[in-house]
Amino acid sequence: MTGAKKLYIKTYGCQMNVYDSERMAEALGGQGYVETDTPDDADMILLNTCHIREKAAEKVYSELGRFKGLKAEKPDLKIGVAGCVAQAEGQEIMRRQPLVDLVVGPQSYHRLPELEAKARGGEKALDTDFPEEDKFDHLKARPKAKRGPTAFLTVQEGCDKFCAFCVVPYTRGAEVSRPVARILDEARDLVERGVREITLLGQNVNAYHGQGPDGADWSLARLIWALDGIDGLERIRFTTSHPNDMTDDLIEAHGTCAKLMPYLHLPVQSGSDRILKRMNRAHTAESYLRLIERIRAARPDILISGDFIVGFPEETDRDFQDTLDLIEAVNYGYAFSFKYSTRPGTPAAERDQVDEAVKSERLYRLQDLLTRQQRAAQEAMVGQEVGVLFEKPGRLQGQMVGKSDHLHAVHVSDSDLRPGDLRRVRITDSTPNALGGRLA
Ligand code: SAH
Ligand code: SF4
Ligand code: F3S
Repeated sequence: MTGAKKLYIKTYGCQMNVYDSERMAEALGGQGYVETDTPDDADMILLNTCHIREKAAEKVYSELGRFKGLKAEKPDLKIGVAGCVAQAEGQEIMRRQPLVDLVVGPQSYHRLPELEAKARGGEKALDTDFPEEDKFDHLKARPKAKRGPTAFLTVQEGCDKFCAFCVVPYTRGAEVSRPVARILDEARDLVERGVREITLLGQNVNAYHGQGPDGADWSLARLIWALDGIDGLERIRFTTSHPNDMTDDLIEAHGTCAKLMPYLHLPVQSGSDRILKRMNRAHTAESYLRLIERIRAARPDILISGDFIVGFPEETDRDFQDTLDLIEAVNYGYAFSFKYSTRPGTPAAERDQVDEAVKSERLYRLQDLLTRQQRAAQEAMVGQEVGVLFEKPGRLQGQMVGKSDHLHAVHVSDSDLRPGDLRRVRITDSTPNALGGRLA
């Protein structure tokens, strides 16, 4: 009997990798693979990797090492590395870990079926090109599998900004926007399959400038308004944005488009103008603060989240204090923060590094402040009525969990609730990582 082959995919890194993993599973579905949630019974293991910080990249090699036993037991098992480590290190991965059969970079996923066949034939398969064709055009979904209530949709890839610390422009290549018609088709298809909330993805999603049906380049705001017209699609989000691409029409949409949710991830990285300049961010702390003011004027209840790097080369105590001051001024609802990690090939890697102990101490203080702001933002929701899109059962009997308009996790106990229900909820309590409430 020739049963279906089993595919185990493990995804690291950002949401774009989550989206890509879904597309890769679909592409290999055409080769007779079905997904499994354990590597133990897999015929193919695919690690979709992240190169953003050293730890993320190193994790891949320790994970690969753990598959040695499996491969010894099952010589037919094929092991592949996809994603940003694949792009950054290419052939080197196979040299360092000979049990790897296949390496594929993020722009070549549509070539996965050929690469898989080559690996099956016993050859090493490698593709880290930046081909001319649009991989997503060649990655067609399998017919109409039912979906959960939320989905990611990549609309833009790559980055031309070259922040001095960042590998993304090298691993994902130059900025490319997908055409409007393709995105709308995909969105309609997702909605037919049960999706009610779509998060538009891009490394710089607000730099989106895809070709519209009229031949003109459309902005992200224009794309959002077109999605707004799709019946059955209830919520629209987008991530990640760059401060310099927050255009007037996009700010305005936050005030006028009811489906566009009141949450904006707008990384600033540092509050020191000197460091921002050295980072090549091309904006100042002041211009960022003015921008936040304008966004809040358009949508007063919007929740702002951010990314921060501490211990960027040459960062002094004074620079770090500027970052804390900016955080105080903005008052974040959510944040991600990292110690600067040296990335080979990026300009900042060559500069004077900050002591590891200093980085740790700064990160601790920064996270302490951000956690307090995050808790306060959550507690401020108590007593309010918010929209909640329910996604799955909670841990307790009869409990459902969903996300509020402001992206807080919300638990409600009500046995009539089903995944995909969008309901008004009165928030009654706040625990460290979630809110509780009852149907309004
Ligand atoms: N395109 C997005 C995010 C890209 S990576 C943006 O421009 O905001 C996600 C986050 O990882 C970044 O915002 C940054 O905070 C962090 N990051 C990127 N490179 C890093 C490095 N070398 N060390 C530590 N953190 C890093
Ligand atoms: Fe990296 Fe900067 Fe591009 Fe974001 S904008 S992906 S941080 S280079
Ligand atoms: Fe990581 Fe690549 Fe995303 S480096 S953060 S997986 S774009």
